[in-house]
Amino acid sequence: MDEADMDGITELRDRYLGAIEAAGDEAALEAVRLSALGKKGEVSALMRSLGGMSAEERKTAGPALNALKDDLNTAILTARVRLADAALEARLATEWADVTLPPRPRAEGTIHPVSQVRDEVIAIFADLGFSVAEGPQVETDWYNFDALNIPGHHPARAEMDTFYMARAEGDNRPPHVLRTHTSPVQIRHMEANGVPCRVIAPGRVFRADYDQTHTPMFHQIEGLAIDRDISMANLKWVLEEFFSAFFGTSVKTRFRASHFPFTEPSAEVDIQCSWVGGQLKVGEGDGWLEVLGSGMVHPNVLRAAGVDPEQWQGFAFGMGIDRIAMLKYGIPDLRAFFDSDLRWLRHYGFAALDMPSIHAGVSR
Ligand code: PHE
Repeated sequence: MDEADMDGITELRDRYLGAIEAAGDEAALEAVRLSALGKKGEVSALMRSLGGMSAEERKTAGPALNALKDDLNTAILTARVRLADAALEARLATEWADVTLPPRPRAEGTIHPVSQVRDEVIAIFADLGFSVAEGPQVETDWYNFDALNIPGHHPARAEMDTFYMARAEGDNRPPHVLRTHTSPVQIRHMEANGVPCRVIAPGRVFRADYDQTHTPMFHQIEGLAIDRDISMANLKWVLEEFFSAFFGTSVKTRFRASHFPFTEPSAEVDIQCSWVGGQLKVGEGDGWLEVLGSGMVHPNVLRAAGVDPEQWQGFAFGMGIDRIAMLKYGIPDLRAFFDSDLRWLRHYGFAALDMPSIHAGVSR
């Protein structure tokens, strides 16, 4: 290798080190690397020319070219780290977030009074040893009526303003109804689980009725306790215990003789209340307010559910959830429950986790 070639290598080294230093970003740096060390790069071409040299020439040119290649590679590596650091710094400078800023405001929902009161009732009865049972909202007329000792000609069928499901011509399935009460869950529960049992069954029920205190869909909670020696006295104790926990004050009940086809004897239950200056107060005074129907489960009902009435007996009751929600929280019009008016929901709705029980107390 002669003087001129060695000068050429020095020139190459200076030129490429300068270009590496000048590269403004990683793409520009890669372009410089390719023009020197890529397949068609200048330095790579020189390396290939080694093959055509004499052994003498190769002795000086080989190490000189290798040193050039090493120098350029080292400079590129250093530059790459420098550029990557600079790019990161630039991103950190533009993408920073102020984690001390308050969050964006979020719309907060509320728990509907029906859901709240249903959960309150479940919590209290759970503490009394009752579990929750459920049944379908579309029922056969057998579960809704016949099994509950309401035969086809019975006036109760008409009184309940039943919604019947439409049936196509030639559809031979039994007639279906929107259940008019939660009582069919009594039958379904005993059929599936047998006795003894202590359950409550909350859910929607349907009747063709509409005014300030009636909506075509409303909510009931059914109670059922069957064992060998359960009596009306047990029913009265359970209900007084329940109402006292629910209203947060000791509440007397009054049983009035009544009639339901599925209970014998039957009683309508009133709770003690007072009316002072248009204010209703539960648990004081000498007024009475009707809140539920109840009684001892009729032997025919037990039989329909496959339970032997010679061995087992017990009580059942049915109570309107919406109605006791209106009483407890002073809500005047039932229809507003189902209007989905946001102002109403915000006013009467509840915060999540507002869950009373017998032990936690019920004060808000
Ligand atoms: N199912 C009755 C109604 O809807 C209430 C009831 C339930 C009465 C259980 C007695 C026993 O009016």
